[in-house]
Amino acid sequence: MTFLKMPNYDIHIEEGGLTHLAKHIKSIYEFDDLFVVTDQNVFDLYHEKLIQSLIGFHLSFVVLPPGEKTKSLDVYHQAIQTLIEKGIKRNHLILAFGGGVIGDLTGFIASTLYRGIPYIQIPTTLLAQVDSSIGGKVGIDLKEGKNLIGSFYDPKFVLIDPNLLKTLPKREYVNGLAEMIKAGLIGDKKLYHYLLENDTVTETEIAESILVKRNVVLLDPYDKKERMYLNFGHTFGHAIEKKHQYETYLHGEAISYGMLIALQIGIHIDETKQELYHEVKELLLKRGLVKEPLLEMEDYRDEIIHDKKFLADGLNFIIVTKPGDVKIVKLKEIDML
Ligand SMILES: NC(=O)c1ccc[n+]([C@@H]2O[C@H](COP(=O)([O-])OP(=O)(O)OC[C@H]3O[C@@H](n4cnc5c(N)ncnc54)[C@H](O)[C@@H]3O)[C@@H](O)[C@H]2O)c1
Repeated sequence: MTFLKMPNYDIHIEEGGLTHLAKHIKSIYEFDDLFVVTDQNVFDLYHEKLIQSLIGFHLSFVVLPPGEKTKSLDVYHQAIQTLIEKGIKRNHLILAFGGGVIGDLTGFIASTLYRGIPYIQIPTTLLAQVDSSIGGKVGIDLKEGKNLIGSFYDPKFVLIDPNLLKTLPKREYVNGLAEMIKAGLIGDKKLYHYLLENDTVTETEIAESILVKRNVVLLDPYDKKERMYLNFGHTFGHAIEKKHQYETYLHGEAISYGMLIALQIGIHIDETKQELYHEVKELLLKRGLVKEPLLEMEDYRDEIIHDKKFLADGLNFIIVTKPGDVKIVKLKEIDML
């Protein structure tokens, strides 16, 4: 079992940790009523296990359709109506039990309903375990763009059980690996080298990956400066996701192409070595995160140059100089030619 501390909450990482959920809840919560927000896939796979591990509590379920479309104003409203119908009060506890979609939506419900209800995160995808459940960003999408409405709202704790990943489809598992490869590249060369050799991860690597994010978030909780390091590969990754209407590529796949483009830019401005680009490219090809012919910077350059983040003096861009070492550079249009 691994235990990490954030300023306002603890992260428990444990194979089989779901069986100890009741103990953790009792340490922070005095009532019997629990409100579980989940999606249909996770409900079908795990509701019996959850009920089993929470004997003695009274559980009310809000079961939502799986997929990104669930992070919408409509579903936010419907889920809140259901919670109110089921009798939720301001001091009740909400469980976000699912992937990043459920975590982001439920966290946002918890941060806004009655001006704030306590909640906990039980992430069930690799991406949610290493990334979205950590750092306090919650929110929903608008048709104008992703994550446009949201807030910073910490859970009471995060419980990560890697056993839950056994049912995850391979493409979703690998999607989470992409964020771990990014974490290794920006902040932990040992983790990066592990991921070069291994296509599955354990509690140890999940914890190492979270530590990279944790350290950056602690330096910059409200996303003003250092948190930007986490955006390695994301500038082009977001442009790729957007240009393909968030349908063709999963987030991890889009940022994988984005990381390769960022490494190429690093080479172009003499900050990154060719060898690193080739090593990362081989790794991402081997894991099926990218395919040849690779997506190229030329096809997304306009999106970047016209992005609101591209200011008169350029764009803050994250470069990996060597595994574990990163730098913010000001990217000018000229650097992208
Ligand atoms: N808040 C943050 O800091 C942050 C960071 C990164 C990503 N995100 C958000 O996370 C979301 C993506 O999260 P995701 O990749 O987890 O997607 P997701 O929540 O849609 O889950 C992916 C799929 O896996 C299924 N699933 C979940 N757990 C499963 C399990 N244990 N076994 C089998 N199937 C399972 C889901 O039903 C879904 O079909 C995006 O909306 C993104 O914006 C947020």
